[in-house]
Amino acid sequence: MTKIVVTGGAGFIGSHIAEELAWRDYHVIILDDLSTGKIGNIEPLLSKENVEFIQGSIVNLPLLQKLFRGVDYIFHEAAISSVPRSIEKPLISHEVNITGTLNVLMAARDNSVKKLVYASSSSIYGDTPTLPKREDMSPNPQSPYAATKLAGEYYCQVFRKVYGLPTIYLRYFNVYGPRQDPDSQYAAVIPRFITRASQGKPPIILGDGEQTRDFTFVKDVVEANILAAQSNSIGVFNVGRGEKTSINWLAGLTIKLVGNNVEPIHEEPRPGDIRHSLADISRAKEELGYNPRYGLEQALQETISGIRR
Ligand SMILES: NC(=O)c1ccc[n+]([C@@H]2O[C@H](COP(=O)([O-])OP(=O)(O)OC[C@H]3O[C@@H](n4cnc5c(N)ncnc54)[C@H](O)[C@@H]3O)[C@@H](O)[C@H]2O)c1
Repeated sequence: MTKIVVTGGAGFIGSHIAEELAWRDYHVIILDDLSTGKIGNIEPLLSKENVEFIQGSIVNLPLLQKLFRGVDYIFHEAAISSVPRSIEKPLISHEVNITGTLNVLMAARDNSVKKLVYASSSSIYGDTPTLPKREDMSPNPQSPYAATKLAGEYYCQVFRKVYGLPTIYLRYFNVYGPRQDPDSQYAAVIPRFITRASQGKPPIILGDGEQTRDFTFVKDVVEANILAAQSNSIGVFNVGRGEKTSINWLAGLTIKLVGNNVEPIHEEPRPGDIRHSLADISRAKEELGYNPRYGLEQALQETISGIRR
């Protein structure tokens, strides 16, 4: 049976990857230290014979060396994924996102893993005005978080070149969906809007709301990960939907779908926030066969149902 480790598998994106792999009957090992992830995210999987959960940290190299014995594939999602937290505590983000990733790569190399799929981020493009973002553009990180994600990509590249470990890295663009934590003080915009609108409170828009993002449904991200593992491709791929949505439009749609009659309010923009973000996904389409299937309205409805449950 193909054996797969999902690091950060109790988190938002990792739990969706683990769930899909479990339903496809792979042997799935979920590794998570539960720092932001929750057992509740993977509860329905734990009764399955082909799923194991290990509470532990990617900072613990001996644990990884043991855990990766006989493993075929690794989906490396574990990270401190918050930009504001990385600004407050850059050393902790460095330790988990860079040293932790280096540990994962070393243990994957030593156990002859067939392929490692690394969760990178569109944040590495920074505020360069050129749109859409293409993989061959120069990175321009604006936060410690983005710098750690870029360092992770470089380590993946070097491990491929120096040790022959097949690695592929996916730059996710604004992922959303059920199980994204609305209670975190660092919650992303979609769960924040849904929570406020559901409580009859006005969604808070930072800035004029005309900034745009490429919102990508988590199930499309899962599909991109599985295609990336199955393909012979290596290197970097954007994973977005390839469409831009303004924050004002998103707020209006969320309010409509939630069904509460509230008006968004505007507050000061967050320093360092980029104005526009949009992925060029042609490389992933051509090489991986990636084709995002979920439009914003349908997937937002699914997200609202998931978050309200
Ligand atoms: N959500 C997005 O829009 C987005 C965008 C770009 C990239 N990413 C990347 O995708 C990945 C998953 O992000 P997410 O949104 O699901 O965040 P998340 O916080 O829900 O998931 C991260 C998981 O990693 C776990 N973790 C943290 N430190 C760990 C450690 N030392 N050892 C083991 N597990 C640890 C957490 O407990 C959590 O379950 C991250 O690598 C993130 O950088 C996310």
